[in-house]
Amino acid sequence: MNFDQIFINNKKWIAEKLSINPEYFKTLAQGQNPEFLYIGCSDSRVTAEDLMGLNPGEVFIHRNIANQVIPTDNNVNAVVQYAVEHLKVKHIIICGHYECGGVKAALLPSDMGQLNSWLQTLRDVRRLHRLELESIKDGQRQFDRLVELNVKEQCMNIIKIDHVQKSWYKTGFPKIHGWVFDVRTGDLIDLGLNMEKEFAVIRDIYDLKPIDK
Ligand code: CO
Repeated sequence: MNFDQIFINNKKWIAEKLSINPEYFKTLAQGQNPEFLYIGCSDSRVTAEDLMGLNPGEVFIHRNIANQVIPTDNNVNAVVQYAVEHLKVKHIIICGHYECGGVKAALLPSDMGQLNSWLQTLRDVRRLHRLELESIKDGQRQFDRLVELNVKEQCMNIIKIDHVQKSWYKTGFPKIHGWVFDVRTGDLIDLGLNMEKEFAVIRDIYDLKPIDK
């Protein structure tokens, strides 16, 4: 891909949008009202809007290596707070993907320099689910399963956030969903997690509102 081609593409894209709706950018500039917050991997193959068939303005997006929700990460915390308190999104989606390089790195202990601390939470997911993962003899299946378990753990991390809990108690939203994108087929897979049920089990540990009050 030629670098300059990007700006040629941009002009083409503008012309296409305006040919369908001359007011397109005027409308876009008026504000956003997305119903979804999507947290996915930075992987260049996993383009959020494309795989969901959504347009600009329809989904608030945060991406990082291996779709992590780390409590000390100001970036993800700010995104979640803004999405929940101000945009009032109805759904938060954690989307992992098969063949994720970050997850693969967590399966292969080695010194990754600056990446070590980022990968640590992924290694923690591996440790937390060690028995299940080690019972899977097929290496590819084990890798796929760690991708899925990482999504589930990051969904857990979302419900540990105070803004999410507050909104949840007040309005019942946002709903939290765990997805995996299969780069091998293009399929978007809903893992069917019931995060309300999952939270019920760990509520005595992570609830930020005392249960008896
Ligand atoms: Co990835």
